[in-house]
Amino acid sequence: MATLSVGVLISGRGTNLQALIDGCTDRSLPAEIVLVVSNVRGAAGLSLATAAGIPTCVVDHKGFENRPAFEVALTQALEKAGVNFVCLAGFMRLLTPTFVDRWYDRLINIHPSLLPSFPGLNTHQRAIDAGVRFAGCTVHYVRTEMDSGPIITQAAVGIRPNDTADTLAARVLEAEHVCYLSALRLIAEGRTLVDGNVVAIDSASAPTEAVINPIAN
Ligand code: GRF
Repeated sequence: MATLSVGVLISGRGTNLQALIDGCTDRSLPAEIVLVVSNVRGAAGLSLATAAGIPTCVVDHKGFENRPAFEVALTQALEKAGVNFVCLAGFMRLLTPTFVDRWYDRLINIHPSLLPSFPGLNTHQRAIDAGVRFAGCTVHYVRTEMDSGPIITQAAVGIRPNDTADTLAARVLEAEHVCYLSALRLIAEGRTLVDGNVVAIDSASAPTEAVINPIAN
């Protein structure tokens, strides 16, 4: 199996990046992070990459006249590093159809909700306000509509009666780290097949029992 040469795009603290970095140290995972790109100078995640010996670069969107020009520079940086697969990990820029097409089915994202519920920002507070019993996260292939695309992995996290957006976000974030690595492994091992909006996963099983929240005492 050919090893994926992964580029990770970030804008901030980089805890998902760190989870991917840690996961890729496992030799049984046919994926190597060859470049980390941030659109924000000084993003904390850049130091995490450097500490792991991974090349980094900054492509600051503010330095470009428009979104397409910014994305051309992004793709150039990725291609120069030999990237053939891209993970968005807290990358806070919307992507145009041109970029999405260039990396079609080679571009995945993690979002902190159970998509298609709660795309966009402020997902945890919105989930609490909506009174849903489960929050969670989703790793999906990227399509042009924001936070849409075929779903690879999801984790459900029960919402507790006294949760705030912050307490919930902390539990979801832990699940994100597991979920993102798991999705990358499935793809790197060639176990995913995208068919329209559905991702078939070779030899995957699912929990057999329903998870119910709240737990009746
Ligand atoms: C995560 O919650 C991710 O789901 C969202 O942005 C956040 C990035 O966090 N897309 P980090 O930079 O990976 O810590």
